[in-house]
Amino acid sequence: MNTVRGAGKNLRRVDPRNPKPYLARMAIRPLLILPDPRLRKVSEPVKRVDAKLKALVADMFETMYDAPGVGLAAIQVGEPIRVVTMDATRGDDPKNPIAMINPEIVWFSDEKIVVEEGCLSIPEFLDDVERSESVRVKFLDTDGKQQEIEAGGLLSRVIQHEVDHINGVLFIDHLSRLKRDRVTKKFAKAAKREAAG
Ligand code: NI
Repeated sequence: MNTVRGAGKNLRRVDPRNPKPYLARMAIRPLLILPDPRLRKVSEPVKRVDAKLKALVADMFETMYDAPGVGLAAIQVGEPIRVVTMDATRGDDPKNPIAMINPEIVWFSDEKIVVEEGCLSIPEFLDDVERSESVRVKFLDTDGKQQEIEAGGLLSRVIQHEVDHINGVLFIDHLSRLKRDRVTKKFAKAAKREAAG
């Protein structure tokens, strides 16, 4: 999910005060863009939290901060496993990187709010989406420990958006069919143009 756009492409940004996600060698990974069919796959649960998984999480943070975005699901970098990264501080200091493995939303508030959303896999397109104001989510952290948090505000929204991704759901699925079809066609055309060179 992205709410901020602009500069930063190809810049490696490492915050020395917050090096935790950057312990491994990092790489900015290419993002899958609509209508890549992999974005529609349901991601598989993670069975083991190991060094390979931690390296993926480090790459995901690097890719997410570079974009820049406030959330990223592993499938957006082509890995069909249930891993998401997020940071709802939107570039403020200090950063608050959160990685969730096998996240499961166990409670949605009845209170709903409408907020404008975007997605790194659907660049340059924003629209209003109604979601629960708060959620409670269970997940494994990168030490393999079970965690459960309740979140409101932007973090709640990012959690819902990213958990959608690992279920093959995109934020445009929450729009009217007309709007969804229009944006899907536009991206399909752009992909065709690109393939044709
Ligand atoms: Ni997204």
